[in-house]
Amino acid sequence: MRTPFIAANWKMYKTVHEAVAFVKELRVMAKDVHDVEIVIAPPFTALRAVADAAHASNIGVAAQNLYWEREGAFTGEVSAPMIKEAGAEYVIIGHSERRRLFGDTDQTVNRKLTAALAAHLTAIACIGETLEEREGGQTFAVLDRQLKDGLDGLNADQIAGLVIAYEPVWAIGTGRNATPQQAAEAHGHIRGRLRQWFGGLAADQCHVIYGGSVKPDNARELVSMPDVDGALVGGASLDVRSFFDILTRSRPQAAV
Ligand code: PGA
Repeated sequence: MRTPFIAANWKMYKTVHEAVAFVKELRVMAKDVHDVEIVIAPPFTALRAVADAAHASNIGVAAQNLYWEREGAFTGEVSAPMIKEAGAEYVIIGHSERRRLFGDTDQTVNRKLTAALAAHLTAIACIGETLEEREGGQTFAVLDRQLKDGLDGLNADQIAGLVIAYEPVWAIGTGRNATPQQAAEAHGHIRGRLRQWFGGLAADQCHVIYGGSVKPDNARELVSMPDVDGALVGGASLDVRSFFDILTRSRPQAAV
């Protein structure tokens, strides 16, 4: 049984002050939630402060990107060991905004994933098709390519510990979420490929979460679908009450 995994992707929102205030509030609200893995991904500038505010709580901390070298003349970049040292245990890799705006490819995603795992960070690897690809009947082919190239060289143990976020690009920030059926179909496909390439144990342990216009009023329906193990939440994670509602509605039914 996979524990539901709910992550807040704050993108380029929140000052250090705002981030810490959010985490202090969430910490109190969510103190009894032990059946959901809760993760916050603030901007780099707030990583250390958020990690301190979340210390010894049930809230984990993620970076939103990394560069694959450990150190060097790479102006503007941050490495996996630096992220780890700042107090994060997770990192989002290959978000569609990084792919679209900053040149991430399946190959750079693979290098970043490898670097994250070497630094003992849990990676949240993002994949998903554009609207054009979906309408062209390419969804599964795109997912296959992103998985095959992105996960190249990883072993079954690493896959077991990975989080894959299925984020259809047309659903991100648009208010148009995938239907629960569309999500279940894509997640089932992803799980099937993981089983085929990495074996049943790894496929059963790997979390496959959904992202794209998740809100309090659609979270339960999406997360209760087969093979949907949680959510990566953008816009609706910026307000603490809204994020808390999402994680509450993602708890295993028996606990709520
Ligand atoms: P959204 O973003 O929830 O605002 O659609 C999701 C994401 O980009 O991870």
